[in-house]
Amino acid sequence: MNPYRIVLLAGDGVGPEVTAAARRVLAAVDDLYGQHFVFEDCLIGGAAIDATGDPLPPATLAACKDSHAVFLGAVGGPKWDGGKRRPEEGLLAIRHALGLYANLRPVTVTGDAADRSPLRADLVRGVDLLIIRELTGGSYFGAKTREKDRATDLCVYTTEEIERVARVAFDAARERRNHVTSIDKANVLETSRLWRETVTRLGRTEYPDVELDHVLVDAAAMKLIQRPRAFDVVLTENMFGDILSDEASMLPGSIGLLGSASLGASGPGLFEPIHGSAPDIAGRDLANPIGAIRSVAMLLRYGLKLVREADMVDAAVASVLATGVGTADLGGELGCIAFADKVIEALSRARWTENHVQMHWA
Ligand code: IPM
Ligand code: MG
Repeated sequence: MNPYRIVLLAGDGVGPEVTAAARRVLAAVDDLYGQHFVFEDCLIGGAAIDATGDPLPPATLAACKDSHAVFLGAVGGPKWDGGKRRPEEGLLAIRHALGLYANLRPVTVTGDAADRSPLRADLVRGVDLLIIRELTGGSYFGAKTREKDRATDLCVYTTEEIERVARVAFDAARERRNHVTSIDKANVLETSRLWRETVTRLGRTEYPDVELDHVLVDAAAMKLIQRPRAFDVVLTENMFGDILSDEASMLPGSIGLLGSASLGASGPGLFEPIHGSAPDIAGRDLANPIGAIRSVAMLLRYGLKLVREADMVDAAVASVLATGVGTADLGGELGCIAFADKVIEALSRARWTENHVQMHWA
Protein backbone atom coordinates (compact mmCIF):
# COMPACT_ATOMS: atom_id res chain seq x y z
CA MET A 1 0.00 0.00 0.00
CA ASN A 2 2.87 2.39 0.65
CA PRO A 3 2.95 5.26 -0.09
CA TYR A 4 -0.50 6.21 1.14
CA ARG A 5 -2.01 9.12 -0.74
CA ILE A 6 -3.83 11.45 1.64
CA VAL A 7 -5.90 14.39 0.49
CA LEU A 8 -6.01 17.34 2.89
CA LEU A 9 -9.07 19.56 2.62
CA ALA A 10 -8.27 22.44 4.97
CA GLY A 11 -11.42 24.45 4.20
CA ASP A 12 -12.39 27.55 6.14
CA GLY A 13 -12.06 29.29 9.51
CA VAL A 14 -9.91 27.22 11.86
CA GLY A 15 -9.85 24.42 9.26
CA PRO A 16 -6.37 25.33 7.92
CA GLU A 17 -4.90 25.51 11.45
CA VAL A 18 -6.19 22.15 12.62
CA THR A 19 -5.30 20.61 9.26
CA ALA A 20 -1.72 21.85 9.69
CA ALA A 21 -1.68 20.13 13.10
CA ALA A 22 -3.07 16.91 11.58
CA ARG A 23 -0.47 16.97 8.85
CA ARG A 24 2.37 17.36 11.36
CA VAL A 25 1.13 14.38 13.32
CA LEU A 26 0.83 12.27 10.16
CA ALA A 27 4.32 13.35 9.12
CA ALA A 28 5.59 12.24 12.55
CA VAL A 29 3.93 8.84 12.12
CA ASP A 30 5.66 8.65 8.74
CA ASP A 31 9.04 9.44 10.34
CA LEU A 32 8.66 7.23 13.37
CA TYR A 33 6.96 4.14 12.02
CA GLY A 34 8.02 4.03 8.40
CA GLN A 35 4.56 4.47 6.97
CA HIS A 36 4.93 6.66 3.97
CA PHE A 37 2.34 9.37 3.37
CA VAL A 38 2.05 11.63 0.34
CA PHE A 39 -0.15 14.69 0.87
CA GLU A 40 -2.24 16.55 -1.65
CA ASP A 41 -3.92 19.83 -0.66
CA CYS A 42 -7.27 20.53 -2.33
CA LEU A 43 -9.96 23.15 -2.09
CA ILE A 44 -13.38 22.73 -0.49
CA GLY A 45 -16.07 24.95 1.04
CA GLY A 46 -15.80 28.72 1.11
CA ALA A 47 -12.15 28.65 0.05
CA ALA A 48 -13.19 26.72 -3.05
CA ILE A 49 -16.10 29.10 -3.76
CA ASP A 50 -13.68 32.03 -3.61
CA ALA A 51 -11.19 30.36 -5.95
CA THR A 52 -13.50 28.58 -8.40
CA GLY A 53 -17.14 29.46 -7.64
CA ASP A 54 -17.80 25.83 -6.72
CA PRO A 55 -17.75 24.50 -3.09
CA LEU A 56 -16.61 21.08 -4.37
CA PRO A 57 -14.54 21.60 -7.55
CA PRO A 58 -14.26 18.53 -9.82
CA ALA A 59 -10.47 18.43 -9.29
CA THR A 60 -11.00 18.03 -5.55
CA LEU A 61 -13.46 15.20 -5.99
CA ALA A 62 -11.18 13.44 -8.47
CA ALA A 63 -8.21 13.68 -6.09
CA CYS A 64 -10.32 12.36 -3.19
CA LYS A 65 -11.57 9.41 -5.23
CA ASP A 66 -8.00 8.58 -6.14
CA SER A 67 -6.72 8.74 -2.54
CA HIS A 68 -6.41 6.26 0.31
CA ALA A 69 -8.00 8.66 2.79
CA VAL A 70 -9.27 12.23 3.05
CA PHE A 71 -8.75 14.59 5.98
CA LEU A 72 -11.03 17.60 6.27
CA GLY A 73 -10.60 20.61 8.57
CA ALA A 74 -13.87 22.57 8.56
CA VAL A 75 -16.12 24.48 6.17
CA GLY A 76 -18.34 27.54 6.45
CA GLY A 77 -18.38 31.06 7.82
CA PRO A 78 -20.43 34.26 7.79
CA LYS A 79 -18.49 35.51 4.78
CA TRP A 80 -20.52 33.21 2.52
CA ASP A 81 -23.95 33.82 4.11
CA GLY A 82 -26.52 34.81 1.54
CA GLY A 83 -24.28 33.85 -1.38
CA LYS A 84 -25.43 31.76 -4.34
CA ARG A 85 -23.45 28.73 -3.13
CA ARG A 86 -22.84 27.70 0.46
CA PRO A 87 -19.57 26.15 1.76
CA GLU A 88 -21.58 23.39 3.52
CA GLU A 89 -22.79 22.19 0.11
CA GLY A 90 -19.22 21.09 -0.59
CA LEU A 91 -19.11 18.91 2.52
CA LEU A 92 -22.51 17.34 1.90
CA ALA A 93 -21.59 16.75 -1.75
CA ILE A 94 -18.33 15.00 -0.96
CA ARG A 95 -19.97 12.76 1.65
CA HIS A 96 -22.54 11.83 -0.96
CA ALA A 97 -20.10 11.41 -3.84
CA LEU A 98 -17.85 9.10 -1.82
CA GLY A 99 -20.86 7.15 -0.50
CA LEU A 100 -19.93 7.85 3.13
CA TYR A 101 -23.11 6.68 4.80
CA ALA A 102 -21.74 5.90 8.26
CA ASN A 103 -20.35 8.62 10.50
CA LEU A 104 -18.59 7.43 13.65
CA ARG A 105 -18.31 9.94 16.48
CA PRO A 106 -16.76 8.51 19.65
CA VAL A 107 -17.22 10.41 22.92
CA THR A 108 -15.15 9.46 25.94
CA VAL A 109 -14.58 11.11 29.27
CA THR A 110 -11.27 10.01 30.70
CA GLY A 111 -8.77 11.54 33.09
CA ASP A 112 -9.32 15.23 33.78
CA ALA A 113 -12.03 15.64 31.16
CA ALA A 114 -14.72 15.04 33.78
CA ASP A 115 -13.64 18.16 35.66
CA ARG A 116 -13.80 20.26 32.51
CA SER A 117 -17.35 19.23 31.68
CA PRO A 118 -20.10 21.76 32.32
CA LEU A 119 -21.92 18.77 33.85
CA ARG A 120 -21.13 17.28 37.24
CA ALA A 121 -17.93 15.24 37.12
CA ASP A 122 -19.48 12.23 38.88
CA LEU A 123 -22.16 12.12 36.18
CA VAL A 124 -19.81 12.08 33.20
CA ARG A 125 -16.71 10.31 34.49
CA GLY A 126 -16.15 7.10 32.52
CA VAL A 127 -18.50 7.94 29.63
CA ASP A 128 -17.55 5.84 26.61
CA LEU A 129 -20.07 5.99 23.81
CA LEU A 130 -19.97 5.83 20.03
CA ILE A 131 -22.48 7.71 17.94
CA ILE A 132 -23.14 6.17 14.54
CA ARG A 133 -24.86 8.85 12.50
CA GLU A 134 -26.40 8.03 9.11
CA LEU A 135 -24.71 10.56 6.83
CA THR A 136 -26.10 10.51 3.30
CA GLY A 137 -29.88 10.35 3.72
CA GLY A 138 -32.76 12.05 5.49
CA SER A 139 -33.80 15.66 5.23
CA TYR A 140 -30.26 16.90 4.49
CA PHE A 141 -30.39 15.17 1.12
CA GLY A 142 -34.12 15.09 0.26
CA ALA A 143 -35.73 17.37 -2.32
CA LYS A 144 -35.99 20.98 -1.20
CA THR A 145 -38.44 23.62 -2.29
CA ARG A 146 -38.55 27.30 -1.57
CA GLU A 147 -41.22 29.85 -2.30
CA LYS A 148 -41.37 33.25 -0.72
CA ASP A 149 -43.34 32.17 2.36
CA ARG A 150 -43.10 28.40 2.20
CA ALA A 151 -40.22 25.93 2.24
CA THR A 152 -39.86 22.14 2.42
CA ASP A 153 -37.06 19.63 3.07
CA LEU A 154 -38.13 16.11 2.25
CA CYS A 155 -36.97 13.37 4.64
CA VAL A 156 -36.50 10.04 2.85
CA TYR A 157 -35.08 6.72 4.08
CA THR A 158 -35.09 3.34 2.38
CA THR A 159 -34.82 -0.02 4.09
CA GLU A 160 -31.45 -0.59 2.46
CA GLU A 161 -30.06 2.73 3.71
CA ILE A 162 -31.18 1.90 7.23
CA GLU A 163 -29.84 -1.66 7.13
CA ARG A 164 -26.35 -0.76 5.98
CA VAL A 165 -25.78 1.84 8.68
CA ALA A 166 -27.42 -0.35 11.33
CA ARG A 167 -24.94 -3.12 10.47
CA VAL A 168 -22.09 -0.71 11.20
CA ALA A 169 -23.62 -0.03 14.62
CA PHE A 170 -24.24 -3.71 15.47
CA ASP A 171 -20.74 -4.68 14.32
CA ALA A 172 -19.22 -1.88 16.42
CA ALA A 173 -21.26 -2.97 19.45
CA ARG A 174 -19.84 -6.49 19.20
CA GLU A 175 -16.36 -5.00 19.62
CA ARG A 176 -17.50 -2.90 22.57
CA ARG A 177 -20.17 -3.54 25.24
CA ASN A 178 -22.64 -5.29 22.92
CA HIS A 179 -25.42 -2.72 23.26
CA VAL A 180 -27.09 -0.58 20.56
CA THR A 181 -29.50 2.23 21.36
CA SER A 182 -31.40 3.23 18.22
CA ILE A 183 -32.83 6.73 18.32
CA ASP A 184 -35.82 7.87 16.29
CA LYS A 185 -39.10 9.75 16.46
CA ALA A 186 -41.32 6.79 15.68
CA ASN A 187 -44.29 8.29 17.51
CA VAL A 188 -44.54 10.99 14.82
CA LEU A 189 -42.41 10.33 11.73
CA GLU A 190 -43.05 7.66 9.10
CA THR A 191 -39.33 7.47 8.27
CA SER A 192 -38.71 6.74 11.96
CA ARG A 193 -41.27 3.94 11.96
CA LEU A 194 -39.49 2.32 9.01
CA TRP A 195 -36.19 2.93 10.83
CA ARG A 196 -37.39 1.21 14.01
CA GLU A 197 -38.94 -1.77 12.18
CA THR A 198 -35.83 -2.27 10.08
CA VAL A 199 -33.37 -2.04 12.97
CA THR A 200 -35.52 -4.37 15.07
CA ARG A 201 -35.70 -6.99 12.31
CA LEU A 202 -31.99 -6.80 11.60
CA GLY A 203 -31.22 -7.13 15.29
CA ARG A 204 -33.41 -10.23 15.62
CA THR A 205 -32.18 -11.96 12.48
CA GLU A 206 -28.50 -11.06 12.24
CA TYR A 207 -27.47 -9.79 15.69
CA PRO A 208 -29.53 -11.65 18.31
CA ASP A 209 -26.49 -11.51 20.62
CA VAL A 210 -26.48 -7.69 20.68
CA GLU A 211 -28.77 -5.94 23.14
CA LEU A 212 -30.97 -3.43 21.30
CA ASP A 213 -33.24 -0.73 22.61
CA HIS A 214 -35.09 2.17 21.04
CA VAL A 215 -35.37 5.65 22.49
CA LEU A 216 -37.31 8.60 21.11
CA VAL A 217 -35.00 11.45 20.18
CA ASP A 218 -36.42 13.96 22.65
CA ALA A 219 -36.03 11.51 25.53
CA ALA A 220 -32.57 10.57 24.25
CA ALA A 221 -31.46 14.22 24.38
CA MET A 222 -32.47 14.23 28.04
CA LYS A 223 -30.96 10.85 28.90
CA LEU A 224 -27.66 11.86 27.33
CA ILE A 225 -27.34 14.48 30.06
CA GLN A 226 -29.05 12.53 32.81
CA ARG A 227 -27.30 9.14 32.49
CA PRO A 228 -24.67 9.35 29.75
CA ARG A 229 -22.87 6.20 30.91
CA ALA A 230 -25.96 4.17 29.99
CA PHE A 231 -25.04 4.48 26.30
CA ASP A 232 -22.67 2.24 24.36
CA VAL A 233 -23.41 2.50 20.62
CA VAL A 234 -25.94 5.14 19.61
CA LEU A 235 -27.46 4.62 16.16
CA THR A 236 -29.45 7.37 14.54
CA GLU A 237 -30.44 9.19 11.36
CA ASN A 238 -28.66 12.15 9.85
CA MET A 239 -30.23 15.18 11.53
CA PHE A 240 -30.72 13.60 14.95
CA GLY A 241 -27.08 12.47 14.87
CA ASP A 242 -25.90 15.95 13.93
CA ILE A 243 -27.71 17.46 16.88
CA LEU A 244 -27.01 14.75 19.47
CA SER A 245 -23.30 14.64 18.67
CA ASP A 246 -22.89 18.34 19.42
CA GLU A 247 -24.80 17.78 22.65
CA ALA A 248 -22.61 14.78 23.52
CA SER A 249 -19.46 16.83 22.98
CA MET A 250 -20.25 18.69 26.18
CA LEU A 251 -19.79 15.50 28.20
CA PRO A 252 -15.98 15.79 27.94
CA GLY A 253 -16.33 19.57 28.02
CA SER A 254 -15.31 20.83 24.59
CA ILE A 255 -16.41 20.21 21.04
CA GLY A 256 -12.76 20.67 20.12
CA LEU A 257 -11.98 17.23 21.55
CA LEU A 258 -14.01 15.07 19.18
CA GLY A 259 -12.89 13.45 15.96
CA SER A 260 -14.97 11.54 13.45
CA ALA A 261 -14.76 9.03 10.65
CA SER A 262 -17.13 8.91 7.70
CA LEU A 263 -17.05 5.54 5.97
CA GLY A 264 -18.69 3.92 2.97
CA ALA A 265 -18.88 0.39 1.65
CA SER A 266 -15.58 0.81 -0.19
CA GLY A 267 -13.20 3.53 -1.27
CA PRO A 268 -11.55 6.22 0.83
CA GLY A 269 -13.08 7.43 4.08
CA LEU A 270 -13.23 11.03 5.21
CA PHE A 271 -11.93 12.05 8.63
CA GLU A 272 -12.78 15.33 10.25
CA PRO A 273 -13.06 16.95 13.67
CA ILE A 274 -16.71 17.53 14.53
CA HIS A 275 -16.21 21.17 15.47
CA GLY A 276 -17.02 23.64 12.74
CA SER A 277 -15.00 26.48 11.26
CA ALA A 278 -15.22 28.66 14.42
CA PRO A 279 -14.72 31.93 12.52
CA ASP A 280 -14.56 33.89 15.80
CA ILE A 281 -11.21 32.33 16.73
CA ALA A 282 -9.86 31.61 13.23
CA GLY A 283 -6.31 32.67 12.41
CA ARG A 284 -5.34 33.25 16.06
CA ASP A 285 -3.75 29.88 16.86
CA LEU A 286 -6.45 29.29 19.47
CA ALA A 287 -8.13 26.23 17.97
CA ASN A 288 -7.96 22.93 19.79
CA PRO A 289 -6.23 20.42 17.48
CA ILE A 290 -7.31 17.36 19.49
CA GLY A 291 -10.43 16.73 17.41
CA ALA A 292 -8.24 16.86 14.31
CA ILE A 293 -5.55 14.62 15.84
CA ARG A 294 -8.16 12.11 17.00
CA SER A 295 -9.50 12.18 13.44
CA VAL A 296 -5.97 11.36 12.29
CA ALA A 297 -6.04 8.36 14.63
CA MET A 298 -9.35 7.29 13.07
CA LEU A 299 -7.87 7.80 9.59
CA LEU A 300 -5.03 5.47 10.55
CA ARG A 301 -7.37 2.96 12.23
CA TYR A 302 -10.31 2.78 9.83
CA GLY A 303 -8.95 4.34 6.67
CA LEU A 304 -5.53 2.70 6.41
CA LYS A 305 -5.97 -0.18 8.91
CA LEU A 306 -2.82 0.96 10.72
CA VAL A 307 -4.24 0.00 14.09
CA ARG A 308 -1.01 0.14 16.08
CA GLU A 309 -0.16 3.60 14.77
CA ALA A 310 -3.72 4.71 15.59
CA ASP A 311 -3.39 3.39 19.14
CA MET A 312 -0.11 5.25 19.52
CA VAL A 313 -1.63 8.57 18.40
CA ASP A 314 -4.62 8.17 20.74
CA ALA A 315 -2.33 7.26 23.61
CA ALA A 316 -0.07 10.23 22.87
CA VAL A 317 -3.05 12.62 23.03
CA ALA A 318 -4.16 11.07 26.32
CA SER A 319 -0.67 11.32 27.78
CA VAL A 320 -0.35 15.00 26.87
CA LEU A 321 -3.79 15.79 28.30
CA ALA A 322 -2.83 13.95 31.48
CA THR A 323 0.02 16.42 32.05
CA GLY A 324 -2.64 19.09 32.49
CA VAL A 325 -1.72 21.24 29.49
CA GLY A 326 -4.30 22.26 26.95
CA THR A 327 -5.62 24.86 24.55
CA ALA A 328 -7.74 27.84 25.60
CA ASP A 329 -11.07 25.97 25.41
CA LEU A 330 -9.67 23.56 28.01
CA GLY A 331 -8.51 26.40 30.25
CA GLY A 332 -4.92 25.96 29.07
CA GLU A 333 -2.44 28.23 27.36
CA LEU A 334 -1.08 26.23 24.45
CA GLY A 335 -1.72 27.23 20.86
CA CYS A 336 -2.96 24.82 18.23
CA ILE A 337 0.46 23.93 16.78
CA ALA A 338 2.20 23.94 20.17
CA PHE A 339 -0.30 21.35 21.40
CA ALA A 340 0.22 19.24 18.29
CA ASP A 341 3.97 19.40 18.88
CA LYS A 342 3.48 18.11 22.44
CA VAL A 343 1.62 15.15 20.97
CA ILE A 344 4.46 14.57 18.52
CA GLU A 345 7.02 14.71 21.34
CA ALA A 346 4.99 12.13 23.26
CA LEU A 347 4.77 9.95 20.16
CA SER A 348 8.49 10.03 19.63
CA ARG A 349 9.10 8.98 23.25
CA ALA A 350 6.66 6.06 23.08
CA ARG A 351 7.84 2.52 22.46
CA TRP A 352 5.99 -0.54 21.36
CA THR A 353 5.61 -3.36 23.80
CA GLU A 354 5.02 -6.92 22.74
CA ASN A 355 1.24 -6.75 22.39
CA HIS A 356 1.35 -3.52 20.38
CA VAL A 357 -1.43 -1.86 22.31
CA GLN A 358 0.25 -1.34 25.63
CA MET A 359 3.15 1.00 25.57
CA HIS A 360 5.54 2.60 27.92
CA TRP A 361 6.78 6.13 27.81
CA ALA A 362 10.56 6.24 27.81
C1 IPM B 1 -21.31 18.27 11.05
C2 IPM B 1 -21.63 19.64 10.55
C3 IPM B 1 -22.15 19.53 9.12
C4 IPM B 1 -23.39 18.65 9.17
C5 IPM B 1 -22.46 20.87 8.43
C6 IPM B 1 -21.27 21.78 8.41
C7 IPM B 1 -23.02 20.67 7.06
O1 IPM B 1 -22.54 20.26 11.41
O2 IPM B 1 -20.48 17.58 10.43
O3 IPM B 1 -21.87 17.85 12.05
O4 IPM B 1 -24.47 19.12 9.46
O5 IPM B 1 -23.26 17.46 8.91
MG1 MG C 1 -22.88 19.21 13.17
